[in-house]
Amino acid sequence: MKNIVFRRRSVRTYQDEEVPKDVIESLLRAAMQAPSAHNQQPWHYVVVRKKEVIEELAEAGPHAVMLKNSPLAIVLLADPDEFVMEHFWPQDLAASATTLLLQAVDQGYGGCWIGVYPEEDKMEHAKTVLGIKSDLIPFAILSLGKPRKEVIPRDCYDEGKIQWIE
Ligand SMILES: Cc1cc2nc3c(=O)[nH]c(=O)nc-3n(C[C@H](O)[C@H](O)[C@H](O)COP(=O)(O)O)c2cc1C
Repeated sequence: MKNIVFRRRSVRTYQDEEVPKDVIESLLRAAMQAPSAHNQQPWHYVVVRKKEVIEELAEAGPHAVMLKNSPLAIVLLADPDEFVMEHFWPQDLAASATTLLLQAVDQGYGGCWIGVYPEEDKMEHAKTVLGIKSDLIPFAILSLGKPRKEVIPRDCYDEGKIQWIE
């Protein structure tokens, strides 16, 4: 139960402390290490450290309220021009987001996945706030920071979800 997979929980309250650039780079490096269909790697990232912009992202609704106390938001987007197997792109982006969150735990940080795609209003809001005029598709926002409270690991193992064929 000790490794980062089990220590990753959604963290929604953060210490009032900036995330250093070298840590952010390590998160992005990990995120780009994710598997993707046909190795298409259609992911792009907008790193938001400016408080006012993070607060605007939080205006998307109550589901995004944790952004208000977060020192960092990373928005994951997909570039349709890079699709090779188009229909798999959300899975590629999900793999990237998950890998980024795990790397954050490894670095002593925590984060929360804020769903954007495929909800049109949330996608539109993210594009407007970030000033994106291109065809990039916003997929998710990750709020990130040093956890304010201790993160309690949880074991979700459920035998009932497994069918063995042997
Ligand atoms: C696709 C997706 C969308 C999510 N959207 C939100 C969200 O908008 N707001 C939020 O607070 N948590 C969001 N979460 C986090 C989940 O609520 C969280 O992962 C789940 O409750 C399990 O808790 P854990 O991450 O601590 O294991 C999202 C997670 C996923 C995978």
